[in-house]
Amino acid sequence: MTKAFETFLIGLDEKEKAVFLPRFHTLVAGASGTGKTEADRKIIAEILKAIPDLKVVVFDVKETGRDWEGFGHDVPIYVKTATDVRFLRDLIETSEGRKIDWFLYELSIATEKAETWREVLANLERRLEETKKRYPKGSIREEKIGILILYMKALVKDLESVRISRELVLPHQINVVAVNRESQAFKELAVYSYVSEILDKQKYLVVIDEGSLLAPRERGTGCKRVIRRLFKAGRAAELYGIVSDQEITGIDESVRRQCWNWILGMQTEVAAQKRTADQIPGKSVKPDQIATLGVGWFYAVIRTPGKTEIKKFYLLPEGIPIETGKMLVRGELSIEEMMEKIAELRMKKVDEDLVYKERCENLERRMEEMKTEMSKLREQRDEFKNLCEKLKAEMPDKVELQNMKNELERTRENLVDAQRKLMRYSSLESFLTDFVRDAVKEAVPQVSPTASEVSVNVQSTVTDFNVTRLRETLSATDKDLQGQVLLLAAEGWFKEKRRISQVRDELRRAFNTSPRPGTIEKTLAELVAKGILEREKASQGGWLYWLKPEAEKLIKVKNTLTDEAK
Ligand SMILES: Nc1ncnc2c1ncn2[C@@H]1O[C@H](COP(=O)(O)OP(=O)(O)O)[C@@H](O)[C@H]1O
Ligand SMILES: [Mg+2]
Repeated sequence: MTKAFETFLIGLDEKEKAVFLPRFHTLVAGASGTGKTEADRKIIAEILKAIPDLKVVVFDVKETGRDWEGFGHDVPIYVKTATDVRFLRDLIETSEGRKIDWFLYELSIATEKAETWREVLANLERRLEETKKRYPKGSIREEKIGILILYMKALVKDLESVRISRELVLPHQINVVAVNRESQAFKELAVYSYVSEILDKQKYLVVIDEGSLLAPRERGTGCKRVIRRLFKAGRAAELYGIVSDQEITGIDESVRRQCWNWILGMQTEVAAQKRTADQIPGKSVKPDQIATLGVGWFYAVIRTPGKTEIKKFYLLPEGIPIETGKMLVRGELSIEEMMEKIAELRMKKVDEDLVYKERCENLERRMEEMKTEMSKLREQRDEFKNLCEKLKAEMPDKVELQNMKNELERTRENLVDAQRKLMRYSSLESFLTDFVRDAVKEAVPQVSPTASEVSVNVQSTVTDFNVTRLRETLSATDKDLQGQVLLLAAEGWFKEKRRISQVRDELRRAFNTSPRPGTIEKTLAELVAKGILEREKASQGGWLYWLKPEAEKLIKVKNTLTDEAK
């Protein structure tokens, strides 16, 4: 590979040699669970190392759940109110699953001068009324507009049900746009909105996980056009794209063509194995070889101008040292052990992030407080300044000042004199007191002057002691955190050693509460102090907590009704 192309480390080949990828658009394909998301993460991390001021936008779209949780930061979902007719057509076509070219004329009239989706809908409704007046009942035109109104209504309902931002906000290095739970139309609109903005910018990396959902082959979507444009934009603009999906052939050809790097993983279906092998230049990889790739193992097709290379490699997950990767390649470490290592690494990070986040929030709060304090001080300072000005203005003249000074000096001298006299007087007083006391002592020696002292004779005997230890009673209910933790303990949940993040998840699951990690930690520490829980440092950092075996019988759960329930 020539030096003209920036490259980054992606993994190791079977001979433990490092494999590098040029910094181009990349396509990642493989059956579910083969390590595509892991590959995306690695590429993101490596490109960020080279371009630290690059911004990453990840679209987390998979319906089955959050793939990117704990990675980067969620951002409010930005959408444009796009009312242009082609966009709306695409959007309606994907959400309805049918072509609506037939309706395009009516839609284009309705979108003219419309600023919002509601206005498009209102225009359609107005036109329906006009049509009803001018044409016989049940005309084709009436039917068309009627159907469009139904489509538009469904769309507007979909789009308006999500909390959205009208501004593109990408404050983080890695920004995750989580649209997993939104409708397909909404996903497309979000991707369209972000990508069309990013197209005018520089230094962005856009990650399109599940590419066939957003830029599929043989089908239009609301965002396919902008995705194509993004992948056409070259490295000159420092715009990069990663698109991943289960199969290479599911992704739009134009997007696929722009990806000079392909990372191809295992396929489960025979047909898919064949389709993948067919895509690899020179037919140098057989379908069987695709079928037998392990998790994290891929064939890379690496194209640079004038050269195409095909390499089998193990993808080194982000945060895993090369030496550990080599152990896996040599077979000294199983893939399960490696997965465990990755999970540990990530878990630690989530825990650290939680604590860190809270610390940040506390700092922010303190900052706010300091800011208010500062502004108060500033006000006081200004007041003082004004006062000084005023005083300066009202200052008496020099002669008067000198007189005042003299008078002050005289008063001071008088004061010093008075103090001296006072001291003399007090030493005289103490002399007299001593004198009188000694005189009295001499006169009546049997009287003790300190009558408050009492002497007691203690007879040394053997004494029995009865000690009753009062066990502290802890009252808690399932409405407070301590009670909830104790309930979990009573149910046996704390028999296993638990991390704070697990406790947090369990609290959310069992009681639908989400206290801060710091609060949870405090409560757990209190229960440790009270001898109910035990804890130890976890090998990957943080604490592990569990129920002291003998403490189990100390927790008594009483079921009562609350006042409301009664
Ligand atoms: N290179 C790898 N080495 C070790 N484990 C991996 C590797 N790639 C993925 N995994 C593990 O395999 C599982 C699935 O990976 P993931 O990237 O989510 O797959 P996909 O996105 O293809 O469904 C995860 O538990 C992940 O940690
Ligand atoms: Mg994935």
